[in-house]
Amino acid sequence: MSIGNNLSVAIRFLRNDACVAIPTETVYGLAANALSSKAVASIFTIKNRPAFDPLIVHIASIAEAEKYAAPNAEAFLVMEKFWPGPLTVVLPKKNCIPDLVTSGLSTVGLRCPNHPVALELLQHLPFPLAAPSANPFGYVSPTTAQHVEAQLGDSIPYILEGGKCTIGLESTIVGFENKGVVIYRLGGISVEEIEKVLGRVSLRLSGTPLAPGQLDSHYAPRKKLYVGNVQALQEKFPGETLGVIFYSKKTIECAHPIVLSPGGELEEAAQNLFAALREMDNSDATTILAEEAPSIGIGRAINDRLMRASQR
Ligand code: TXA
Ligand code: MG
Repeated sequence: MSIGNNLSVAIRFLRNDACVAIPTETVYGLAANALSSKAVASIFTIKNRPAFDPLIVHIASIAEAEKYAAPNAEAFLVMEKFWPGPLTVVLPKKNCIPDLVTSGLSTVGLRCPNHPVALELLQHLPFPLAAPSANPFGYVSPTTAQHVEAQLGDSIPYILEGGKCTIGLESTIVGFENKGVVIYRLGGISVEEIEKVLGRVSLRLSGTPLAPGQLDSHYAPRKKLYVGNVQALQEKFPGETLGVIFYSKKTIECAHPIVLSPGGELEEAAQNLFAALREMDNSDATTILAEEAPSIGIGRAINDRLMRASQR
């Protein structure tokens, strides 16, 4: 395995049905040819991902969406507004998308990522890329090439370097049902932004059919994480070495403090969240505490990830 910025190397592996880790603006993805069942099967193996968890298909432009799916008028509105960007649109799939990609569903999640390296790669390939986050199933998503290397370095031939992810949380997932527009996962585009374009939407962040981004326990560090008022929580763990993730300022003394955004900016806090969870796992802290972010905009997605990371 190596980390590098050589697009031709990445293209060669991908054309041969191998997986390559790629940067996106949200998190790093574990990418493979979405039109090849063989390539897609290796994604599931490397991630140890259950086959019932569908993959997102990454494309280079809105024009490509119609090759792989049947977008409706509302889908075009959000694609035009938010692509390239952290929004996945769930649409009726066309036959060229293998069932393995969608876990047998009749719909496929499409996304055009807003990252120069990912876009250039997609423009040079004759096929779209299926890519889940490049982490072992259930663990925290990677936001640097080094995060990918630490866990999957031995299982993949190449990691394409693209710097630190600018959004830092996965894409928002939106779908269209008879009852209206549904958000299945909170993420890089806020509910408020989507409602400005489509009007009122409903949230279905858990329930059936259950998608693993919706599992109560997901995005989780190995150590126990407790979310809430850190002052009150601290008193519950007198013997523990505490690592505390603060939103904008350090309010208690502890062995390992991390402040997500000293200026109290939601976007900055989102960008730093997953790296903070990994840093805590790698520190000598025995228990992790975290404060919630203000529950507006991308703050809701931050709190969603904290809540899932704290479930066992
Ligand atoms: O930001 C992202 O979306 C990143 C980057 C790499 O693009 N990808 C990502 O993929 O987060 P992953 O596999 O970790 O999460 C994909 C989730 C699934 O767990 C499921 O919840 C949802 O996308 N999904 C995919 N296809 C779907 C479909 N047809 N219907 C409903 N949900 C779907
Ligand atoms: Mg994931």
